[in-house]
Formats: sequence, C-alpha cells, structure tokens
Amino acid sequence: MDIDNLMKIELSDCIIIVNTENGDVIEVDKRLFNDKKALNKELIKNNFYEKLLYSMKFSKDSFKTVYISLHISSKCNMNCKYCFMNDRKYNNLSFEDSKKFIDMIIDEYPNAGKYIVDPTGSGEPLLELDNLCKIGEYCKQKSDDLKREVLPMIVTNGLLLTEKVVKRLRESGVLFGVSLDGDKKTNDIYRYDYLGNGTYKRVISNVKKIKDRSLMGVALTITDKNMDLVKNLKHLIKYFPTVSMKPVRVIDSNIGINESNIDKLKNSYTELYEFLLKQTTKGNLEYLSAILNGDDYFGKFLLRSILCIKVTTRCDAGVGRFSLAPDGLIYACPGAIDISELVIGSLEKGIEKEKRDFLWNTLVNRNKCQDCYAKFVCGGECFVNAYYSTKSITEKDDVMCELKRHLFKLSLAFNHYLKQMECYSVVIRGCVEKTKRFDEEKEVTNFLKRNPNVSFNDIKYHKAYIDRK
Ligand SMILES: C[S@@+](CC[C@H](N)C(=O)[O-])C[C@H]1O[C@@H](n2cnc3c(N)ncnc32)[C@H](O)[C@@H]1O
Ligand code: SF4
Ligand code: SF4
Repeated sequence: MDIDNLMKIELSDCIIIVNTENGDVIEVDKRLFNDKKALNKELIKNNFYEKLLYSMKFSKDSFKTVYISLHISSKCNMNCKYCFMNDRKYNNLSFEDSKKFIDMIIDEYPNAGKYIVDPTGSGEPLLELDNLCKIGEYCKQKSDDLKREVLPMIVTNGLLLTEKVVKRLRESGVLFGVSLDGDKKTNDIYRYDYLGNGTYKRVISNVKKIKDRSLMGVALTITDKNMDLVKNLKHLIKYFPTVSMKPVRVIDSNIGINESNIDKLKNSYTELYEFLLKQTTKGNLEYLSAILNGDDYFGKFLLRSILCIKVTTRCDAGVGRFSLAPDGLIYACPGAIDISELVIGSLEKGIEKEKRDFLWNTLVNRNKCQDCYAKFVCGGECFVNAYYSTKSITEKDDVMCELKRHLFKLSLAFNHYLKQMECYSVVIRGCVEKTKRFDEEKEVTNFLKRNPNVSFNDIKYHKAYIDRK
C-alpha cells in the first residue's frame, strides 16, 4: 500500500490516516506526515500494514445476541406519511404463533447469551396490549428456563401510553421507547392520525406523566423536514435520557435523504459534532451520553471510533435477526416486510438455509464496498435502504454512502479531541458498558447454575442475590 493512497483527514493539530485494507487508524503530527521515510517507519512500527484476519464463515455461535421480532399489530392508530407499512392487511400474529416463533429461533441459536424479543412490528403494538403483555410474561418464563435473559422491548407511537398501560407493561417486563420527530412543529408535519391531526401534544402529555423515565429512549426519524439535529436533540433530551435519530428509508425521495438535501444534512451533522464536542469539553456529558446510549445513527460511528471497533458486517439481518409477519413469513428484519427478496423462511418450514447463506455472503463480502475507507466502521449498506433506493438488496445507496463517510470522518475527529479531555476515561467506561449491555451476564448464569432454586427473574428484580454472594 502506497502512503499517497491512504485516506487522510487533516485536523488543526494532527493528521489522521486510515488504512482502507485493514481499517487501522493512526494519528500523526504534521511534521512527521511530511517526512515520508519517517512516516513509513512509524506506520510499520505500529503494524499499520498488517493484514486483518477474520473469518468469513457463517457460525451460529458468533451471535452473542439474537433478535426476534414479531409483527403483533398490523393496525395503527396513526397514519404517518413516511411509514414503511403502507399496505395494512389488518391481520395480527396470535400469541400461539408468537410463542412458537420465539421457541423456534431460540432452538436455532441455543448458545446465544441474550435474546431480544421485539413485538413492535409494523403497526402500533399498544393496540394489542393483552397479547403484548402475554409475550412479556412468556419471555420471563423463558428467561427462567434458560437462565439467560429473553428481553422484550418495543417502540410505541405513545398515543395509548397512559399511566395504567405503563404499569401493565412494567409488570410484564416489557421495556418501551417512544417515537417523536422533534418538537410539536416538526413532529406534526409527518406524524399525524387518520384525521390529519398532529400527535405531539397527546404523546408528550402521556410521556410527562411517566415519573421514572430512566430506561426510556426516544426514536426520531430524520426526514426532509427535521434536519436540525442539534435542535431535535436539545428538545428531546428534556424528556428522555437517550435519543436515537435515524434517517428515514422511503421510496418517495422527496421525504427522504436525496441529492437535493444531502449537503444540508451533512452540515447539520457537522453542527451536531461541534455541539457535542463543545458540551463534552465543558464536562457536560448528558448530550453525548444520550446519543451513545441508544441506537443513534451517528452514535454508532462515534462508539466504534472511540472503542476502535472494526465491523465486518453492517448488521445481523437474516443471520442473527429474524422477523415474523402476520402471514407466517419470516423476514430478515422488521423493516423488510413486504420485500420478497428478504423473506428467509416461514413459521411452518423454518429458516431456509440457502437464503440465510445468501444474506450472510452478501453481508460479509460487501462487494460494493471494497474501496471504501469507511467500511470497517460502516459495515456496508442496509438491505432495506438498498432495496428502496435501487430496487436491489445487494446494491448501495450512493447518497447515504456520502453521508456515512462524512459521519466516519466526524467520528474520527471527535475521538481525537476526546482523548485530550479530562472525561476521556469516563466516556470510555460508558462506551464499554454500552457494548456489554446486550451480552450475557456470565456471573448471573454461573450463579444460577450453582443455585438452582433461584430463578433468573429473582436475580433481575433483586440483584441483591448476587451482591450477597
Ligand atoms: C414502524 S414503527 C412501529 C411502532 C410505532 N407505531 C411507532 O411509530 O413507534 C417503528 C419505528 O419505525 C419508524 N419508521 C416508520 N417508517 C419508517 C421508514 N420508512 N423509515 C425509517 N423508519 C421508519 C417509526 O418512526 C418508528 O420509530
Ligand atoms: S405510528 Fe408507527 S406504525 Fe403507525 S403509521 Fe406511524 S410509524 Fe407507522
Ligand atoms: S455502504 Fe457505502 S459508506 Fe458503507 S462501507 Fe459500503 S461504500 Fe462505504
């Protein structure tokens, strides 16, 4: 590899170099950078040219967390303009089928450390509250049987989130987050009910009544109408400890991210980066933590850059993540519903191995990403997004690639400045905790093996057992 061909990012006090072939990142001072011989020596000393070895073979046991999604409600009490579920068939999954699917996937992946069960699906899960709570109770039972966590979690539009409903969800162990697209003005542009009325006021009034919001996050879908990310974050953090902002995936390019608005969104992310940097420098970690702790689009890049995590696939769709639709078909992920290329089996026949192998090979080979310097942090294109923008799940969306490369550069720069801050070690610890959140808690499993009379749920709700050990 030639030094001249390495990817460089110039900051005020250093140059960051990225090796496209192995994902290595190194920061060098400008003087060293201009002395090619010395630079090369430094790079060799840091093993910068070493080949990255990783397995391309599919192995079920490599998935520490397995995701099981259930479309328990095809119905919705809202009519958001961008919703990917535009053809509602009004058939729901029964509790029996949900149970069967949970068992099927757990049997298929018996060695995972944790199972996340997500009954959100493609409609409003709170319209099926009884079923949802029964699934929550079943997850508790499975956790006790397996001595590992089977964790139910949903995102709701929040319209039905009354105090009574919150109590029931909590009693049955279902974690929940809420979708809101910013403040009243921006949220109500696309998130409205069937009468065309905005929903912000009703949702936020329910949210405000929930006293303990410590485990509650908010999901914001970025469209052409709410690209002021700092404003979104400042507003939503008033009500939620974690904020996840993700670009919409739509066929209607006017609503989504396209050539006409990509620069605006990139600039907005640069502003978000500057804002986070300023707040973190001042020692205010609230905003950074809100972004890092959830499932934020930029947060993912930040976390990977801060912890030097290299990924070989974008996600686990269809290989460690499965979604059951009401008609009994299994899709690679919840957003894939109605995309026939992403059907990978059925409740009746199980997962089709050839289809899973095809998705695995597509994920891991990333044929369209070979020359991209961001590939070890981005991981590759989302199947659903690729399908919506190119009609092929194996392609990539060039507009989104431009955004992702921008986010990669911002995350590298952020990491560089973060290292110089007093709070660096605190942030590192927080990031490590976050990555471990979905891992098996080995100490709990081992404790339960030694104490068969104690159940997983006893431990979960009364951690004191462990502390007394
Ligand atoms: C399909 S909804 C189902 C749960 C519930 N009805 C809600 O809105 O939270 C789950 C999440 O998907 C998001 N979503 C819907 N359509 C989308 C699309 N086309 N692209 C990206 N996200 C989308 C919603 O904003 C919401 O946060
Ligand atoms: S509330 Fe959720 S499911 Fe309903 S239309 Fe909006 S995004 Fe879709
Ligand atoms: S999807 Fe795009 S940004 Fe991501 S690795 Fe592939 S080419 Fe790079």
